[in-house]
Parts: sequence; structure tokens; C-alpha cells
Amino acid sequence: MKILITGTAGFIGFHLAKALLERGDQIIGIDNLNQYYDPKLKESRNDILKQHKNYIFHKIDISNREELKQVFEKDIDTIVNLAAQAGVRYSLENPFVYITSNEMGFLNILELAKDFKIKNIVYASSSSVYGECKNIPFKETEQLDKPISLYAATKKANEQMAYTYHKLYGLNCTGLRFFTVYGPYGRPDMALFKFTKNILEDKPIDVYNNGDMKRDFTYVADIVQGIAASIDNPLPYEIFNLGRGQPQDLMYFIKCIENNTGKTAMKNMMPMQMGDVPLTYADTSKAEKLLQYAPKTNIEQGVKKFVEWYKEYYKDE
Ligand SMILES: NC(=O)c1ccc[n+]([C@@H]2O[C@H](COP(=O)([O-])OP(=O)(O)OC[C@H]3O[C@@H](n4cnc5c(N)ncnc54)[C@H](O)[C@@H]3O)[C@@H](O)[C@H]2O)c1
Repeated sequence: MKILITGTAGFIGFHLAKALLERGDQIIGIDNLNQYYDPKLKESRNDILKQHKNYIFHKIDISNREELKQVFEKDIDTIVNLAAQAGVRYSLENPFVYITSNEMGFLNILELAKDFKIKNIVYASSSSVYGECKNIPFKETEQLDKPISLYAATKKANEQMAYTYHKLYGLNCTGLRFFTVYGPYGRPDMALFKFTKNILEDKPIDVYNNGDMKRDFTYVADIVQGIAASIDNPLPYEIFNLGRGQPQDLMYFIKCIENNTGKTAMKNMMPMQMGDVPLTYADTSKAEKLLQYAPKTNIEQGVKKFVEWYKEYYKDE
């Protein structure tokens, strides 16, 4: 298959593109390589992908419709839109980029998918759309209209825009709500990376809501399996939770990092951050049924793999 993936220099995009290249797909990768976090990490992911002969990369901002149009081709089977400004906390500091990348960027993807008659669109949504939802585990059938961060609002809007394009133009659109994805080559702005770095450097870590938080941490290879299944089974219009379905206490998560680094964390206990939620918990039964989604990696195995990668990748620094 020929698959256009946006955000291939990003964490999830890199793992997805790598897995699809290894199974023989042709990948057109797009990323603007922005400086939200260390661009060297993005370059190293992209360098690994560039070793595959079936990988073509374009440095493009998806909010630039004219540039994006240049790389569209009629024979693309599926578009996977992962390029976005991620992060709940950063959306308090720089709200504008969320509208540019997540809204204008996604609109460009939908418009070009329509014009080029592309059969299947898969896009990243987020567990953050559940906001302060009290019904747990979170189900796709929940009516959600109270996002508590601008990031969440842009992801919910993406689901609605996809519905409109499905309804008006018959595009097949699958939205995937990822739940706290982690693993090797993970994002420097996320807890696992920040905690591991600080613990190894004997610096304190900031623990929000005094540690009273639970997250449904999901290993990146499991997420990749769910995305690949959505590529292989075009559906008219669906939304799926892709989580592990086993929320973990933040303090136990820190314990796993301590076990793998061999060090004890110095903890700064902090209040809850604005826009953040105390619990995420995915009901994954819909994805299990329709996508044969079957997350395999538990938190102990996943954190071990991350810490091993981190130590090796940063061994000379
Ligand atoms: N990692 C998670 O836990 C998680 C959870 C829920 C949803 N998501 C979503 O999954 C997707 C991938 O997340 P990730 O963790 O890999 O993040 P990431 O930041 O590592 O990857 C996103 C990539 O997109 C690129 N990008 C951003 N704006 C762009 C633009 N306007 N044009 C072109 N490229 C652009 C960035 O340079 C980056 O390489 C995002 O849409 C994110 O919102 C991630």
C-alpha cells in the first residue's frame, strides 16, 4: 500500500512508519520538524526511516495548503494524520499553534483527501476529549462537549470535522483516541522522559496533584497495531479508544522508573495543573471487536524498554 503519514519525525509517527515499512508498504512522510522539543530527536527518528528505500520524506507544514498539495498523489491508499501540536499544558502557553496545526492543518488534509479521492483517512484524536468525564471506563458512546483544554477542544473538533467530510463527501474516516502513549524514542515533554532524565541526573521531579493521579499508559507498539488495523480495515466513520485498559497510579509508575534506574526519585509534590485530569481509563472493547486490537505490553515491561533505550541513546551526554 502507499500510505501518506503526517508527523513521521514524531514519536508515534516514527514507530508507525517503521512498522509499515518493515511489512513492505510505501510511505510518504511529512513533518515540519518544529522546535516544540529537541529537533535532534526528530532528526534521529527520521534518519532511521530514511534508511528504507520505500520512504520518501517532505519537510512541510500541513497548515500550508499549497505546499501540502504538491505531495498528494491519486494513488495514495490511506492518509494517517498524526501531525499536530500535542500537549495539554503547552496549550495554556501558546494556544495559537493549536489552531494553526490541529485545525487548519487537518482541514487541509480533509480537503485534499476529498480532491484526490483518497479512500481512507485515519487521524489522531486523544483521551483528553473525555475531560472530567465521570463514567469510567471511558466509552466512545459518551456525549462529550466540555473540553477542559484548548488541546482537547481541537481534538474533539477534528472528530466533528471528520464526520462532516464523511457525511458530505463519503470519506472513510477513523479517529483514534490515544491514551498516554510511551516507549523508546518517546517525547521529552512527557512524564516518563522527564522523570527518567531527572532521576538519572539526581534532580527532583515534579509530581502533580500530590501523586493522586491515574493514567492508562499505553505502549507504543500496541498503539501501532491499532493504527495499522485501522489502515487495513477502512470504515465509513468510527472513533476508537486505543488504550491499555489498565490505569496505573502515578506513584507506581514512578516506582517502576526507580526500579529500572536503580535510583530513588526526589519528589516535588505539586498541585493539579490547569487543564489536567486526575484519571484516564479506556474501555477498549470496541477496538478489540472491530480492529482485533490486543494491547500486550504491561507497564513493567514498557518502562524497562524505555529506560534501556534512554540510557543507550543518551550515553554520551
Ligand atoms: N503521545 C501521546 O500520548 C498522545 C496521546 C493522545 C494523542 N496523541 C496525538 O497523536 C499524534 C502524535 O503524537 P506524538 O506523541 O507522536 O507527538 P509528536 O509531537 O512527537 O509528533 C507530532 C509530529 O508532528 C509534527 N508537526 C506538528 N505540527 C505540524 C505541522 N503543522 N505540520 C507538519 N508537521 C507538524 C511535529 O514536528 C512532530 O514531529 C498527535 O496528533 C497527538 O496529538 C498523542
